[in-house]
Amino acid sequence: MKRPIAAIAGTGRGLPAAVMTNFDFAKIGIETTDEWITERTGIKQRYIAREGESTTSMAAAAARQAMQRAGVSAGEIDAIVLSTATPDRLLPATAVDLQAELGATRAAAFDIGAACAGFIFAATVAEGMITTGVAETVLVVGSEKMSSIIDWQDRSTCVLFGDGSGAAVFRRAKHHKGILSTYLRSDGTLANLLYRPGGGACMPFCDDVLQDRSFYVKMAGREVFKHAVRSMADACDRALDGAKLTGKDIDLLIPHQANMRIIEATAKHANVSMEKVYVNVDRYGNTSSASVPIALDEALENGRIKDGMTVLLVAFGAGFTWASMVLRF
Ligand code: COA
Repeated sequence: MKRPIAAIAGTGRGLPAAVMTNFDFAKIGIETTDEWITERTGIKQRYIAREGESTTSMAAAAARQAMQRAGVSAGEIDAIVLSTATPDRLLPATAVDLQAELGATRAAAFDIGAACAGFIFAATVAEGMITTGVAETVLVVGSEKMSSIIDWQDRSTCVLFGDGSGAAVFRRAKHHKGILSTYLRSDGTLANLLYRPGGGACMPFCDDVLQDRSFYVKMAGREVFKHAVRSMADACDRALDGAKLTGKDIDLLIPHQANMRIIEATAKHANVSMEKVYVNVDRYGNTSSASVPIALDEALENGRIKDGMTVLLVAFGAGFTWASMVLRF
């Protein structure tokens, strides 16, 4: 008997109302320019959550849209797997707040911490649940309020990130569509190149942590850049091998939207021409685990992904973690 396949039945996205452009940094006293940010990263603007907008509320907006497009009611959801580096509270998981918000009372709900690669990690967990018969319908969400953990006094990081959420409903596929291959990797020996030193259980929140701002994201930008290029290339190779495909078979590459130069290097390595690469980093900045599902949702909505197309997802982030997935639509 053929192994069942998990496929996307619907996607959605949820964004804050407010947009912050590169020019807005001057208004909050950050010494930077539109030229510097655009040249180094390709980012022109990002969405920033304001009062009342949370990781859960953005996730709920994305999830409702995904469920509506999938034709799935809250009561049909067996599991919610939510990826976030910015949970609304440290306990319990943001996924259970989302569950309550949606009224998905039958679901098992839990968070995944795999940073910017988190959506692909979460989708792989969903695939495992579906193909082993643990669940039939799984809601997978990447939701981030990055503005709550970046240091607004550090110009080398605060210009890079944005807030938002993307969601996808995965179900058991009836046809030969869905996840064809997946690849997940991590390297914890490099954790200190992109991390939040303070505020967790080993350095609990206290006056010192507050004073030295160690609860904010710290990043060795150049090192992260090098590893991102190398790891995303590796991940593309592995997922393509797993699906027995080459870059030429890919109709659309959706890379993690962190930096235009990393995206271009990834596409070149994977042998996918830039016309077949989905780019929205200019409008969103780096939304961590929300980046891939937001791009996926846009690409489905605007017709860049059509029936029968083969799509490669690839992402890299803190941990380091990196991951890739080939899907047929
Ligand atoms: N505006 C203006 N100047 C800035 C700046 C900003 N926002 N941020 C840093 N600079 C300055 C630095 O102070 C430094 O000045 P100096 O030479 O006088 O010391 C100079 O620009 C170069 O800094 P550097 O950090 O070496 O720049 P870079 O070319 O490596 O670009 C990044 C910085 C962050 C854009 C780049 O390293 C990068 O994109 N890294 C990957 C980050 C990423 O994507 N992380 C998430 C992965 S999931």
